[in-house]
Amino acid sequence: EKGGYEHFMAKEIMEQPKAVRDTISPRIKDGRIVLDNITLTADQLKTFRKIFIVACGSAYHVGMVAKYVLEKMTRIPVEVDVASEFRYREPIIDEKVLVLVISQSGETADTLAAMREAKRLGARTLSIVNVVGSSIANESDDVIYTWAGPEIAVATTKAYSTQLAVVYLLAIYMADLLGCLTAEEYAAYLTELQALPDKIEKILQNRENIQYLASQHFNAKDVFFIGRNLDYAMSLEGSLKLKEISYIHSDAYAAGELKHGTISLVEDGTLVIALATHQNLFDKMMSNVKEVKARGAVVLGMTTENNTQIEQVTDHVFYIPQTCDVMLPSLTVIPLQLFAYYVASMKGCDIDKPRNLAKSVTVE
Ligand code: F6R
Repeated sequence: EKGGYEHFMAKEIMEQPKAVRDTISPRIKDGRIVLDNITLTADQLKTFRKIFIVACGSAYHVGMVAKYVLEKMTRIPVEVDVASEFRYREPIIDEKVLVLVISQSGETADTLAAMREAKRLGARTLSIVNVVGSSIANESDDVIYTWAGPEIAVATTKAYSTQLAVVYLLAIYMADLLGCLTAEEYAAYLTELQALPDKIEKILQNRENIQYLASQHFNAKDVFFIGRNLDYAMSLEGSLKLKEISYIHSDAYAAGELKHGTISLVEDGTLVIALATHQNLFDKMMSNVKEVKARGAVVLGMTTENNTQIEQVTDHVFYIPQTCDVMLPSLTVIPLQLFAYYVASMKGCDIDKPRNLAKSVTVE
């Protein structure tokens, strides 16, 4: 059942190239994105003054990536909210708002309740769901399925990756309908999107490097993940993966925020995982790495293949392939999942069923 792997999580991590390909391929026909069954029209799209994204946990982290991506590509303002918070702050919603709901199970109680509230207030709803026929899929105005297949491990991996893939499909689709992309830009985004599965595969083939880093650090007491912009969203996901399955305390910070408080926690030997995959933020990230190094931190860096200067300031580096800025999260997440997995495995944790957690959270 586990396909020769020790845990479902390992199997599901390794299935990601296929899951992402299965999610993307059927939606691209003759160089165009075709979202079958989507009833949302271009005219309706043009009326939206705002997009709200609601989700929980890792799906919320996908929402954070989606905020950056959708704002950049469509220029529609986007707000992201944890579903359990959304309903209790009287969100300003009407028919000029699109509410994007992200959920693997399609049954998460808070997410479902937030979606129902959005509908009651008149918003149009679009969901990204993995389980066909689930409540969220059934009740939203439109649904785009992630074709990840069944996800058994409590910690999500392939569902997260396929949710990201749908976000990219949707962002390109919407940006095109809104006239925000030239034909060349459209084609270039599609090329990058279709190249992601092979690049994910390449990172997976390199997993022994991550296993080695995990073997050096599985006894860490605290781990800090830092990054800027999309890498901040990835820091949140990396930190959640690590703490939920390895029980190591960890936190994620926007790198520029460190000096406003958190850096007081950094001492000799503190492990910091620094994500620096974006060229335009690379120098700023290197300054932040130097700040924590000066306080004794051990720094594991992640960047793209060309940025070898990082080796001068970090203790170890993991390189990921290049892609366009908005799609880097699809690659960044893979080493973060592997790191959490190997650390938890070396600590002998119950990886597929971490303590206190359930796969589908059906209470509010
Ligand atoms: C973390 C994880 C959870 C889920 C969250 C939402 O690895 O799996 O944080 O992402 O409980 O679940 P769904 O996507 O089913 O709504």
